[in-house]
Amino acid sequence: MTEVSKGHAGEPHVHRGEGCGCLAADLAKAEEILAELSPVDSGDLIPLLQRLQDAYGYLPADVLAEVSERTGIPLSRMYGVITFYTQFSTTPRGRHTIRCCTGTACHVRGAKDVAEALLHEVDVEVGGTTADGRFTFENVACLGTCFLAPVVMVDDEYFGQLTPAKARAIVKNYS
Ligand code: FES
Repeated sequence: MTEVSKGHAGEPHVHRGEGCGCLAADLAKAEEILAELSPVDSGDLIPLLQRLQDAYGYLPADVLAEVSERTGIPLSRMYGVITFYTQFSTTPRGRHTIRCCTGTACHVRGAKDVAEALLHEVDVEVGGTTADGRFTFENVACLGTCFLAPVVMVDDEYFGQLTPAKARAIVKNYS
């Protein structure tokens, strides 16, 4: 596929697919965010990364490199923050995140069956993203609502006292 992006010097560039060696990511969204937050320094790193992740769905390596170059924030510092906070991801994520609790309270109330039902329903592996980009699936140690066990979160919403059938019905509501 041919697409137009910007080379390192900022000049228009025609992307010639894999192996082209240019920046393939659409930098327009990053430019817009940098302009809005300008002037940007290291103190703005977390909100900057949040905005970039919201815009791209994850943090593409070439976007981070370009942002580092333009702001002077070292890439090593960016990756330090990205790896510290679980909210950030450098690989593409699904539109929705399923967080399935595997903590003790949930485990004794059937969390394993709920998780298996969900994994089968959306066709994904733990830690993976569905082929259609709909869901990323993660196991978590405790969601802090043990009284609702077994618990699953989809994005920011909690679902408790689940059965495999209820869990399968819930994810059908997300597109
Ligand atoms: S163990 Fe599942 S919410 Fe605490």
